This record gives sequence, structure tokens and C-alpha cells, in this order.
Amino acid sequence: MKILVTGAGGQLGRAVQVTGQYLGGLEVKGFAHGELAVEDAVQVRAAVDSAQPDLVVHCAAWTEVDACEADPARADLINGVGTENVADACAAANAGLVYVSSDFVFSGDAESPYKETAATAPVSAYGRSKLLGEEAVLSRGADRFWVVRTSWVFGPGGKNFPRAILNAAKAGKPLHVVDDQLGSPTMTLDLARAILDLASAEGEPGVYHAANEGACSWYDFARATLDLSGMAEVPVARMSSADLDRPARRPSYSVLDCSRLTKLRGQPMPHYHDALKRYLDQELDSP
Ligand SMILES: NC(=O)c1ccc[n+]([C@@H]2O[C@H](COP(=O)([O-])OP(=O)(O)OC[C@H]3O[C@@H](n4cnc5c(N)ncnc54)[C@H](OP(=O)(O)O)[C@@H]3O)[C@@H](O)[C@H]2O)c1
Repeated sequence: MKILVTGAGGQLGRAVQVTGQYLGGLEVKGFAHGELAVEDAVQVRAAVDSAQPDLVVHCAAWTEVDACEADPARADLINGVGTENVADACAAANAGLVYVSSDFVFSGDAESPYKETAATAPVSAYGRSKLLGEEAVLSRGADRFWVVRTSWVFGPGGKNFPRAILNAAKAGKPLHVVDDQLGSPTMTLDLARAILDLASAEGEPGVYHAANEGACSWYDFARATLDLSGMAEVPVARMSSADLDRPARRPSYSVLDCSRLTKLRGQPMPHYHDALKRYLDQELDSP
């Protein structure tokens, strides 16, 4: 199977390429942002025409949530129109498509894990732009088009939460972390594997939730990162989202019910503690 990856320089884009090579039998061609800007329909069509993929894994997105809040039109252009361009090119080339979406399409008002069928109601410009992308993909009604929503992504080489916590702790900076948002941390390599399994199995088209098992607050995630890194003595203070006062609202609860994907794959994704240990083993070994 030939796979084209957008956003190939990002956390997940890199993991999809590594996982594709590891699995074997897959020919993966990644396009980083400098090679392919998804809001340019001509570039997207040219990339798909040159790679002739059986599947596109669309990881490219503008993921800076607070910056999106300041420029919603740009967020809609990259995450909404960009995804429409990718969906159009896939439809024209008869390629399958996995669009990676976000827990931020939900309001966060739920008290139990969100199913794929739960009502969406994003509370940020980023969330609304990711939902536009979902609509662009699902409105095609194509057989091999999938939307995979995930949450709290971290992975080797990426700019991510555990890396930020480790850097701050090593620099001796005081750590204050919000404890009133709950979600499921998700490791890129586990997510990449789940995405490729879904496409290889040709699961029913539509929306799937994919996150590591378990749920926690950002405070818990920071604590686990330090404890598993031999820095259990580093203190972390709890704070509220209101105290942090960021431009974009975050869902206070965004745990995803992943049972649809678990059923298809015959197994759940690993627990986030297990994923975090594997990530830290790699990260602590690198400079
Ligand atoms: N990170 C999370 O916590 C999280 C949670 C839920 C869902 N997701 C979704 O998961 C996917 C992968 O996220 P990630 O964590 O891998 O994010 P990431 O590390 O920020 O990667 C996104 C990549 O997209 C590229 N990009 C930005 N604008 C682009 C454009 N106009 N055209 C083409 N490429 C562009 C970025 O390049 P530059 O950096 O060079 O601009 C970057 O390499 C995204 O769809 C995201 O919405 C992420």
C-alpha cells in the first residue's frame, strides 16, 4: 500500500512514517509543511498526483490553539479548507483518507466518555476549524474516508507537554499545572499504529475515537512524567484553568470512548502510563 502523509514534519506525521516503515509492506511518502501547504489546492492535487497513494493520512494542521483564537479565519483556511482540498484530491485519485481530528470538537460538558455519535459543540476557534475539516471529509460519503479524533498528543521528537515539564523541571522553574481539565494522553506511535490498522482493515467509513487508555488531569500527567523520570522530588502545584487565563477555552472534560476502534482492532490502545514510559525511555536517552 502506498501512503501519503501530510504534515510529515509534525509529531504525528513523523510517527506515521516511522510506523509505516516498521510494519513493512507499506511505501510511505511524507510531505512536510515546506513542501506542501494544504490550503493550496493546486499543490495538494500535484502531491497526490505525483505520489499516487492508496491512502492519505492527513496530519497537517495549525495546532496552536491560542494563535487560532486570535486568527480564526486562518484556522478555518488551514484546518477547514486545507482538509477540503485533501478530501477533493483523494476523491479524484480514488485514494482512501484518514483525517486526524480532535477532542476539541466537543464542549467538554460531558461527565462520561464521548462516543463518536455525541453532539459536537466546539468552544474554541481551533475546535471549530477542526470540525469544518470533519464536515469536509464526511460530506463526501466516500467508502474509505475516516475521521480519527484523538487527544493530548505527545511523541518522540515533538514539542509536547511531557517534554515541556521535563525542560522546566531541569531548569529549576516552579511548576504550576491545571488540575480541572480531564483527558487521555495519546502517544503518537500508538496512534499511528491504530490509524494504519483502521485503514488496512478497511473499517466502516466514518468517525472513530483513538486515544491511549486511561484518563487524567494535566496535573496528574505532569506528576506521572516526573515520577517516571526519576524526578519524584520535584514539586508541582495545582492551578485552575481560570487562573491560567489563556485566550482559547479548553474543554474541561474530553475523554473519548474508543470502543468502536477497539472492537475493530480486537484490542484497546495501551494505557497512557505504558505509553509515557516508552516515550520517556527514548526521550531521556536523547540530548
Ligand atoms: N497535539 C495534540 O495534542 C492534538 C490533539 C488532538 C488532535 N490533534 C491533531 O493531530 C494532528 C497531528 O497533530 P500533531 O500533534 O502532530 O501537530 P504538530 O506537531 O503541530 O504537526 C502539525 C504539522 O502540520 C504542519 N502544518 C501547519 N500548517 C500547515 C499547512 N498550512 N500546510 C501543511 N502543513 C501544515 C506543521 O508544520 P509547521 O510546524 O512547520 O507549521 C506541522 O508539521 C493534527 O491534525 C491535530 O489537529 C493534535
